[in-house]
Amino acid sequence: MTIPGALAELFSLAGQRALVTGASRGLGRAMALALGAAGADVVCASHAPGGAAETASALRALGREAWEVSADLADRDAVLALADAAERAAGRIDILVNNAGTIRRRPARDHAIEDWDLVLRTNLDATFLLAQRLGRAMIERGAGKIINIASLLAFSGGITVPAYTASKHAVAGLTKALANEWARFGVQVNAIAPGYMRTDNTRALREDPGRSSEITARIPAGRWGEPEDLAGAVIFLASRASDYVSGHVLVVDGGWMAR
Ligand SMILES: NC(=O)c1ccc[n+]([C@@H]2O[C@H](COP(=O)([O-])OP(=O)(O)OC[C@H]3O[C@@H](n4cnc5c(N)ncnc54)[C@H](OP(=O)(O)O)[C@@H]3O)[C@@H](O)[C@H]2O)c1
Repeated sequence: MTIPGALAELFSLAGQRALVTGASRGLGRAMALALGAAGADVVCASHAPGGAAETASALRALGREAWEVSADLADRDAVLALADAAERAAGRIDILVNNAGTIRRRPARDHAIEDWDLVLRTNLDATFLLAQRLGRAMIERGAGKIINIASLLAFSGGITVPAYTASKHAVAGLTKALANEWARFGVQVNAIAPGYMRTDNTRALREDPGRSSEITARIPAGRWGEPEDLAGAVIFLASRASDYVSGHVLVVDGGWMAR
């Protein structure tokens, strides 16, 4: 991917250092590569050690620096240790993409509290802890970009995913709360709400022929999103082009929400 002419500077991430959680696969992998294509060096976080090796080597093939860190983001101490490791590796983090997330599909009446805890800790607590830990240094430097990955379920309730929906509504609210406090320090906090994207997270839906065709029929673009469909949004929110954009939840959904 190349950015032509006068626009290059506005969208360039050259010299910027990003941390992307959940960079092993799916949306996180695609966003890490998009940031790299725009010039950023990237710390790739995965759940298990070695999980983001392929993403890191794809970034190096683009000529970028790439580092790997890992942690179970459902473990608060491990989240903070991951932030330390990321800063040690890259020197500083200018762009934080809080992407890692998990989902448990189970009706509310049977939703186990262990599933609730796992989803809330991974999707929400880790997002707050990483933003707080790395945001402090951004505030001191007077510059930084935090991009949280929300969902269409930051706006509606979904079916049989109560913990996930609660976590994503909270991610949207947290995005605005942090943005309100930190915009004055030159730190922009925004979110991306992806629509129905073709990743492991949505495999169960695609494998259910009824749900799959119901969903596809409601997407004005007429197709599910591919992870690469987030490239433009993440580069925009990570770059100078979005310096006056704060507390926004950018929907990238092929038109689903407008329907
Ligand atoms: N796909 C969609 O349609 C869609 C729509 C809206 C929002 N989202 C959101 O987008 C984000 C990425 O989802 P995806 O679709 O790319 O899903 P995915 O393919 O299932 O990938 C999930 C990522 O999160 C990481 N992860 C999960 N639990 C973790 C934990 N406890 N500790 C550390 N890392 C953990 C995984 O790491 P490992 O590979 O190392 O396990 C993986 O990199 C999530 O926040 C999801 O809620 C997705």
